[in-house]
Amino acid sequence: MSLNKTTDLSVAAKLLKGSPWENLPLDKLPWYSPEIEEITPQAQELFEKYSNVEPEKVKAHIKELRDKAYVVFPYPCLARWAFLELSVSLSRQYPEVLERVKNGDKYLDLGCCVGQDIRKLVFDGAPSENTYGSDLEKNFMDIGYDLFLDKSTLKTTFIAADIFDEDSDLKQIAGEIDIIHAASFLHLFDEEGQHKACENIVKLLKSKPGSLFIGRQIGNFECGVHVGSLDSSKNRYRHNPASFEQMWKSVGEKTGTKWKVEARLEDQDLHAIAEKMGLESATIPPGSKWLSFAVRREA
Ligand SMILES: C[S@@+](CC[C@H](N)C(=O)[O-])C[C@H]1O[C@@H](n2cnc3c(N)ncnc32)[C@H](O)[C@@H]1O
Repeated sequence: MSLNKTTDLSVAAKLLKGSPWENLPLDKLPWYSPEIEEITPQAQELFEKYSNVEPEKVKAHIKELRDKAYVVFPYPCLARWAFLELSVSLSRQYPEVLERVKNGDKYLDLGCCVGQDIRKLVFDGAPSENTYGSDLEKNFMDIGYDLFLDKSTLKTTFIAADIFDEDSDLKQIAGEIDIIHAASFLHLFDEEGQHKACENIVKLLKSKPGSLFIGRQIGNFECGVHVGSLDSSKNRYRHNPASFEQMWKSVGEKTGTKWKVEARLEDQDLHAIAEKMGLESATIPPGSKWLSFAVRREA
């Protein structure tokens, strides 16, 4: 699919209002990468063996559906194919997560987008009925069925909901989830927003030791406010391991719970990658790294 320029211009203007990119068509945004240059063996295998796409058709199939998702909202993780990293499987806790979900634990992917990490878990042997996905955008989750060609087989419960809406359908699973995974999610919000989202994550998890929250998000050696998100009216807070741990101490105090936090900055230099894409340094400044974390309930 080629992106329709007339439509895209209006979408971009609405979504990116006030940003340096608001008058650009979506396919001219600096982070839009039109073609998949390299696909990881894990993603290729998932599409061949889980979705039964013929090997030589995998890239074209993904591109067609990725472009549909990108028009819903032009997230860089879609634009530059980062969703194909299947990031849950890169987590140090992945073997534990897989084992636990195989043995009946309930897994929720928060901000799941097209649900690639859920499919990876299911392909690796997790029963899909033990999995949940939630996202603000129902369209992303619907496109996920077409992307992974599993509408008739996948038993994941998908819930369209805003994590900040106390009355959303997430209420149905409050206190029932053992493991929550959230990738490239909390970093969308300011400091207060991340704190509030984590308080709501506590409410979704089972109220007992062992409940687990894992994921990764853009962090920085120096914690603080970084301006220049896709929506320039919002601030985004970048945590380092110490500030992330401090946030969870505070979330614990607020919710009457106690958590053990493991957080670290990965090696990859995200600023260098952003510069190559032509993004302003304010968006992903020097010192930007993936912050990977595992937050485990102790009491
Ligand atoms: C940057 S994408 C990351 C998607 C996916 N987790 C990944 O790693 O590729 C962030 C996702 O969070 C969703 N999202 C944004 N704000 C949200 C909110 N307030 N509540 C729930 N989901 C939200 C977006 O629709 C989007 O799918």
